[in-house]
Amino acid sequence: MELKGSVAVITGGASGIGESIARSLAGQGAKVVIGDMNQDGIDRVVAEIKASGGKAAGKKLNVTDDAETGALMDFAIAEFGAINLVVPCAGIIRDGLFLSTDKETGKVKKVLSTADFKAVIDVNLVGPFITLREAASRMVDNGWKGVLFTISSIQKEGGVGQLNYSSTKAAMALWPKILVGEFQMRGIHDIRVVSIAPGYVGTPMVKGMDQGALAKILQGVHLGRLIEPEEIADAIAWATKNDAVNATCIEVAGGMISGLIAK
Ligand SMILES: NC(=O)c1ccc[n+]([C@@H]2O[C@H](COP(=O)([O-])OP(=O)(O)OC[C@H]3O[C@@H](n4cnc5c(N)ncnc54)[C@H](O)[C@@H]3O)[C@@H](O)[C@H]2O)c1
Repeated sequence: MELKGSVAVITGGASGIGESIARSLAGQGAKVVIGDMNQDGIDRVVAEIKASGGKAAGKKLNVTDDAETGALMDFAIAEFGAINLVVPCAGIIRDGLFLSTDKETGKVKKVLSTADFKAVIDVNLVGPFITLREAASRMVDNGWKGVLFTISSIQKEGGVGQLNYSSTKAAMALWPKILVGEFQMRGIHDIRVVSIAPGYVGTPMVKGMDQGALAKILQGVHLGRLIEPEEIADAIAWATKNDAVNATCIEVAGGMISGLIAK
């Protein structure tokens, strides 16, 4: 599939990975529509893409809201006439242990709250569900070819302290197989579904982590450094252009190593 001239809707496009994907796709001739909660971030990214000769537009939304997400898709169609690529990057973390026990007494002193569990499920799982549904309905009804992406994570394997986040990222990794299976049943052959599972990416969120903890994490990464957001954007562009990439989850993690034995 050609990137040039295609229309990409990117949620969470006002920061980090989504921003990088928006810049990268626009730089390769796609028309990008950014949806995010952060209006200032939308304005900044849209203005910068336009200033460098790209085509971009943006609209504020909360991805957990049906009507606002549907309105983002209608906005994309009104601006650029179609929807071809959908990249739901809006995401949050609310890390915490399922049970935190007191080091001295061994008794439970804190639990992962229902609010923190639900908040992550809402944005990272319900959000992409609504985003992909609202986009795909319009794509199918209009016969527009394209790719639906999901953003998973290496934490799909189970990140300690991330029961909520990992649950959503495991789901993101398996959606391509389910959705493509359903498309096959219904004879929808020109919409692919691909998941990208990044490792530790140098977005503001990760760069702001405790540097000691980060150095320890990077000991288990063959690449030896944080992944650049542009490297995730490259994977999205490659997967878009290669029609054989479908119903799969691709890790872009720099080589995560488990079971290291100290010398
Ligand atoms: N940074 C990493 O190392 C990493 C690794 C693997 C996966 N990911 C995933 O990549 C995606 C982007 O992460 P990032 O690091 O770029 O984060 P980020 O915090 O830089 O960007 C997330 C964006 O989502 C927006 N957003 C949050 N909640 C929203 C909502 N309800 N509605 C609309 N917009 C909302 C924020 O305003 C922000 O602009 C997330 O799904 C994250 O889980 C990140």
